[in-house]
Amino acid sequence: MHTQTVALTGATGYIASHVVVALAEQGYNLVGFDNLSNSSAAVVERLEQLIDGPFAFHKVDIRDTATIAEALQQHQVDAVIHLAGLKAVGESVDDPLRYYDNNVAGSLSLLTAMRDACVNQLVFSSSATVYDPDQPSPLTETSQLGPINPYGRTKYVVERLIDDVAATSDLRAINLRYFNPVGAHPSGLIGEDPVGTPNNLMPFIMQVASGQRDELSIFGNDYDTPDGTCIRDYIHVTDLANGHVAALNALATVTTSEAINLGTGTGTSVLDVLRAAEQAVDRPIPTRVVERRAGDGAVSFADPALAADRLNWQADLTVAQACVDHWRWQRQNPTGYPDLSG
Ligand code: NAD
Ligand code: UD1
Repeated sequence: MHTQTVALTGATGYIASHVVVALAEQGYNLVGFDNLSNSSAAVVERLEQLIDGPFAFHKVDIRDTATIAEALQQHQVDAVIHLAGLKAVGESVDDPLRYYDNNVAGSLSLLTAMRDACVNQLVFSSSATVYDPDQPSPLTETSQLGPINPYGRTKYVVERLIDDVAATSDLRAINLRYFNPVGAHPSGLIGEDPVGTPNNLMPFIMQVASGQRDELSIFGNDYDTPDGTCIRDYIHVTDLANGHVAALNALATVTTSEAINLGTGTGTSVLDVLRAAEQAVDRPIPTRVVERRAGDGAVSFADPALAADRLNWQADLTVAQACVDHWRWQRQNPTGYPDLSG
């Protein structure tokens, strides 16, 4: 059991909520920060049910440096997992200032608050989107970087910011480059609750399966892949959450900062995901092939060797399991989390 206290930014979001459960299982003391811009306060109640106890939650924006520094001190935080961020690629193209302000200025503010509160351990939610999409897979941490949209560039910039601060201070950090998180907690109590039309494949498929949407648009079937659809590395959110626990443990062996992929190492096509989802939901899912989506590379999957070596972690769960778990979440919460705002 751990007596360390860990703060999570973006604590009520999709990935962080699963990280909270994984850390609580390991006995960490936890505190959560979120401005609820893309998540619901209802998550706090669900988490308290899952961790069987209170969850210290602050509704706060990471750009509020003084309040964050004060909370870090008040809770005697040892390490921060920084998951807060905006993540919609299309939105970032339309409104780059909002993305740089939230993701880059937000991270700058958080790092300042950490310095002021003398917190020197950090795990950051980066993304495989920092890699140049033309790089061959498997992608290793030394593959050429080259994000092609503002969202990806905010992740790239924050990684460099963290590297620069770690090089000249006592900050020790791991930049985790997630591949494609999917699935939900097996309880069905927490999961991904996208606002509006989902951008990502799995939530879209599940909304078609539940009848909320008519059909899945398959963005191109003329790629140079075995079935013509794009290949990605879908990682179960439970595996991803466990990767954060492993990263926290590994911080003891980090001297400055390191980037580490969190992926399965297996590529799965859009049609493979569709078939796995049809199995899980036990019904056909209507589809239509449409034009390629701008910015999509044909193939992206991780080389997970560094994570195995540095974090002693590997992904265990399958896409089939992720579909089963995501479907349970979808069925139990057809309209997502209850609205507590009124
Ligand atoms: P999410 O939107 O569910 O969670 C992010 C949370 O951050 C939300 O609860 C939101 O309200 C909060 N937030 C945003 N800006 C904030 C701010 N300024 N102050 C306080 N809270 C703020 O997204 P997620 O899928 O859980 O992603 C978590 C992190 O992982 C993000 O940084 C994202 O960019 C990164 N990531 C996600 C994916 C993915 O496919 N889901 C892939 C790679 C990386
Ligand atoms: C997208 C983002 C990437 C982000 C990642 C994980 C783009 C260009 N990239 O990548 O920055 O890190 O999500 O959040 O948006 N697909 C369909 N129909 C759909 C939705 C998706 O066919 O309705 C296909 C896509 O073309 C892709 C695959 O499914 O081949 C996976 O899509 P998605 O879930 O959006 O993930 P990425 O494309 O990897």
